Amino acid sequence: MHNGDALPSAVTVIEVGPRDGFQMEKTFIPTAAKVAVINEMLEAGLREIEVTSFVSPRAVPQLADAAEVLAAIDRPEGAMFTALVPNAKGAERAVAARIGAMITILSASETHNRKNVNRAVEDSLKGCEAIVEIAGQAGIPVHGAIATAFGCPFEGEIAFHRIVSIAKRYATLGIHRVGLGDTTGMATPRLVRERVRALQDALPDISITLHFHNTRGVGLVNVMAGLDEGITRYDSSIAGLGGCPFAAGATGNICTEDLIFMLDECGIETGIDLERLIGVANHVQEIIGRSLPGQLMKAGPRLRTHQTEAVATAHG
Ligand code: COA
Ligand code: ZN
Repeated sequence: MHNGDALPSAVTVIEVGPRDGFQMEKTFIPTAAKVAVINEMLEAGLREIEVTSFVSPRAVPQLADAAEVLAAIDRPEGAMFTALVPNAKGAERAVAARIGAMITILSASETHNRKNVNRAVEDSLKGCEAIVEIAGQAGIPVHGAIATAFGCPFEGEIAFHRIVSIAKRYATLGIHRVGLGDTTGMATPRLVRERVRALQDALPDISITLHFHNTRGVGLVNVMAGLDEGITRYDSSIAGLGGCPFAAGATGNICTEDLIFMLDECGIETGIDLERLIGVANHVQEIIGRSLPGQLMKAGPRLRTHQTEAVATAHG
């Protein structure tokens, strides 16, 4: 709901690095390292984590250890673990692994849907019926994702009526929590406002999660636009990892520590300890073995000061 002047007082930050981030990494990250990172995230206060995907291990070898990860992570009270599920087989694997909620994989773009899950959008929607059925029998909620919701790297602009019609189909399946995925960073603040408002007008009971990638440098500005519209659920990745291997030019998600910093400075509650999260980001950077995009992990909190001798004085 558009609330005009006040920003929300609290938001839920959903960590997607173990899924969106790790899926982009070519070198297999040992299961024990994935588990350690997720447990550190929990210790830093994150309570909703997209931990893996139950997809074909041939499509995404990095996440072949989905069940092992879920079996080994801590499960503190109140923690919610989610995973991507593309089909009935994935749903059955996710139930066996005691997932907390399943997230469908579907794109508004026909071309990206075909690249990503090898079928037409309509066939993915039909496949969602089986996922909802299997999840329902196990008492597990299903959330609906809509990738390329702000544009597609193959097709260009995505007409908004496609997003509304997919969300309506989700609603008929009993899926009322919907994520708008900006797969390759094509969202802008104006588009975010327009699309969020149009979706809320069409489906007033919907709960929207926004999923931005920082590909064009406006990821956090898009979050501000979402906050202006009263949206309280945002996906982000530790250290700014992330990207879809089946979309051209995909880069990292908005960075979790950078997002928490901005929200803290806006006086918006997240329940997350920024200093601890920066520690987790540094650990992830060690595991990945290259410099990652996160900025807070390099600059530190706003009031971090340095020894005056650390920098030379400019002599004329
Ligand atoms: N988990 C494990 N294995 C699976 C599976 C799942 N969810 N779904 C299918 N498979 C296996 C099948 O058992 C079959 O194996 P077999 O050849 O040994 O019998 C094989 O994969 C092919 O199955 P099929 O149903 O024909 O799938 P496909 O080749 O058309 O691929 C997907 C469709 C959806 C499985 C695949 O495209 C996929 O996993 N995509 C996910 C992509 C992704 O994660 N993208 C990043 C997120 S944005
Ligand atoms: Zn993504």
